[in-house]
Amino acid sequence: MTPNGTAYGFVSGGAGPLAGDVLLVPLLAKPQPPMELVTRVDRLCGDAVSELVSVKAVREDVGHLVHTTRRGACRRVLIISLGEAQKLTPHEIRRAGASAARWLSAEGLKSATLWIDGLATTRVDHAAGEWAMGMALAGFRFAEYKEADEKVPAKVRVHIRSSESGHVARAMREIRAALTLATAVNYTRRLAHQPANVINPQSLASEARALGRGSKLKCTVLNTQRLKQLGLNGLIAVGQGARYPACLIQVEYRGVPRSRARTVLVGKAITFDTGGYCIKPSSGLEGMKFDKCGGVTVLGVLKAAADLKLKCNLTGLVAAAENAVSDKAYLPGDILKMMSGKTVEVINTDAEGRLVLADALWYAQQKLKPTALIDVATLTGGVGVSLGKVAAGVMGNDDSLVADLGEAGRRTHERLWRLPLWDDYRSLIKSTEADVRNSAGKRDAHAIVGGMFLKEFVKEDVPWVHLDIAAVSTDENGEGPSGKGATGFGVRLLVEFLRLRGA
Ligand code: BES
Ligand code: MN
Ligand code: ZN
Repeated sequence: MTPNGTAYGFVSGGAGPLAGDVLLVPLLAKPQPPMELVTRVDRLCGDAVSELVSVKAVREDVGHLVHTTRRGACRRVLIISLGEAQKLTPHEIRRAGASAARWLSAEGLKSATLWIDGLATTRVDHAAGEWAMGMALAGFRFAEYKEADEKVPAKVRVHIRSSESGHVARAMREIRAALTLATAVNYTRRLAHQPANVINPQSLASEARALGRGSKLKCTVLNTQRLKQLGLNGLIAVGQGARYPACLIQVEYRGVPRSRARTVLVGKAITFDTGGYCIKPSSGLEGMKFDKCGGVTVLGVLKAAADLKLKCNLTGLVAAAENAVSDKAYLPGDILKMMSGKTVEVINTDAEGRLVLADALWYAQQKLKPTALIDVATLTGGVGVSLGKVAAGVMGNDDSLVADLGEAGRRTHERLWRLPLWDDYRSLIKSTEADVRNSAGKRDAHAIVGGMFLKEFVKEDVPWVHLDIAAVSTDENGEGPSGKGATGFGVRLLVEFLRLRGA
């Protein structure tokens, strides 16, 4: 078994000779770094940096690498461009860190010294933390089912150095918080990658229980019998064709016990989406193990909240089911009586996410009195048609909640773009035989139809937002800081949102 990529362990580097295989030097390309700064790092590496700076070897594209070697204690030096000072954002710093991490891994190096003074000059808050986040996210690779690969080190040690006293300790505090968050993101990514023969609704519930054991989280699982009692028939119907029945996983975190504020996060966890009887073509089935990304994002946020001891009260609800084809599966034309009492005509068994979410949203409102209700789901292919992989779709009934999430999205670069839920769209989900139907049966406004359907199950006075992460939850090109595969989109966004809102 191969570890899932590389974990970076950061330690304060002492004075004296450099530790590790390489000196990492993040440096702005424009304006040219001041001589006095360069001189300081030059002392560590026999003038390597000033030589490269003087021939303008450090290009303006962020993450561009310049490598050189030296005799003596410091054998190798890697300058990582931070680009232009004016344009530098936390996202670019994470990208630069990711670029350094990929280089280390390609070179098979197991240790490094990171000189942080170049980061400190950037005016970006928590630059060292962002850098560490970039490295930690880039280090993840889903490899646990592969034969051991000696070339990829499971652990790389990074020694932090600065020529200014106090900087290292401050950077280490930032880095520790960043790594705690990165661990939660990578936890989510690992679960997202688990195939459907490993993760089904029941084993996902076990994962959530395990999460509860190591931390201050309380986990309860509502199984078929309880779901029936409560009338979550949408969730039951979607899961009824599969070997492992649907369940609703509830995870509690109380960071401010005295406050009545409570954010409820609802995640779609379809452990595999075949489409059901409205079966997907083989090309559409590819990657449908990732249809649980919303649910595992919710688990990752709860893990992060507990590990970071966030000052908020939070409940996660994961609606878990496998949308299978079998003689037991639900059928097009079925009419479901949902927990809310509304009836739904199933037009398309592939529009299953909204059915499981509708019941989970209703359960949240009945049982948990949310002051903010946020669902996260890989709901529609259509959201990618609208926004590509650049932003997730956001819809909702509360402008200030949408705005706060939008701000968190800008800060984390997990960006959101709002789509309208105007009444004009309501005709698309009108049914002749039931209160609503689960699909319009045509391609108009796909992502919005999903949102409109969910809105039917949200009371007007409950601040609610729906995040459609279908396109952004995976990355085929690996261009972002996190590389190929599951991105863990939403974990950093929602943690930032919780920090922003407080309580
Ligand atoms: N899980 C899919 C959405 C999806 C598609 C996620 C591609 C990731 C990549 C969802 O359950 C689905 O099948 N949606 C349908 C809805 C339609 C039948 C109304 C879609 O988007 O085509
Ligand atoms: Mn589907
Ligand atoms: Zn789905």
